[in-house]
Amino acid sequence: MTESSHRVSETPTTTPEVAAFFDVATSTLTYVVTSPETKRCAIIDPVLDYDESSAAVSTESADTVARYVLENDLRVDYILETHVHADHLSAAHYLRQHLGGLIGIGAETVGVQSAVAAIYSDATPLARDGSHFDVLLEDERSLAFGSLHIRTLHVPGHTPACVAYLIGDALFAGDTLFMPDSGTARCDFPGGDARSLYRSIQRLFRLPDATRVFVCHDYQPNGRSLQYVAPIKTHRDRNIHVNRTVSEVSFVAMRSQRDAGLGTPKLMLPSLQVNVRGGTLPRHPTTGEPFLYLPLNKLGAAGTRNIEDIFPRQNENVDFID
Ligand SMILES: [Fe+2]
Repeated sequence: MTESSHRVSETPTTTPEVAAFFDVATSTLTYVVTSPETKRCAIIDPVLDYDESSAAVSTESADTVARYVLENDLRVDYILETHVHADHLSAAHYLRQHLGGLIGIGAETVGVQSAVAAIYSDATPLARDGSHFDVLLEDERSLAFGSLHIRTLHVPGHTPACVAYLIGDALFAGDTLFMPDSGTARCDFPGGDARSLYRSIQRLFRLPDATRVFVCHDYQPNGRSLQYVAPIKTHRDRNIHVNRTVSEVSFVAMRSQRDAGLGTPKLMLPSLQVNVRGGTLPRHPTTGEPFLYLPLNKLGAAGTRNIEDIFPRQNENVDFID
């Protein structure tokens, strides 16, 4: 895996400095946001590398971010997640171990923990009270951050617990908006809702024109080079899915039709069980080793058969660990 780092802003006093790190394997952007006068920083949406075929976890991406923090003599105040990601594992816990800081996520994540626990049949017991995170952030919660503030905006739609973070003139939108030529993210995960996403985006459209919107993913459509930041005015004028000419009804129809044709993200099952734990790994109930679970036929397209119908228990010698 290769990563590239891009410095995108100089340091006027009221704007944060933003460094972006692109994970090629999952097309995810991690940001280190710095309050320049104070050298305090926040890390947003860090990636823990995961090789699907060997079930191997590694830390090249996170170590690149950590190196940037250390080489620039920054102090980490926060490690922030915009939501419980379904496409990559979070390195929040790993980075907190090495750099300190508080892990924050949207307060509605508590509900997502319950939904995720149901997928895994609670194979390893999961506390559903948000206790894996240091800070649960309600809408409009403000965090002191060097000479700036971090303002939390609850932006449900892609998931019910999505938040965006506004720091000075920089908005970290998570999966609420993709780049203007890419549109918006899917809304068909449990608790996702296209109408809610439309309304969340209308709220973001009321931010000042020059607000810089940093996205969480860039899939580089038609082979174009990586892009990850655009003014909110550009989205309002010409985001291909939602702009000032698009009605809620037509957006919901478009989004629903697109979502019906999308497959399950390939790292969804490995990711969810880690990310609802703030980036800590589930552990085997008897050996205590880090362990990932792959519940069968719990996700997937309509028509996926119940696994118990295909393999009824009464026909097997089933070993239960109890
Ligand atoms: Fe996402």
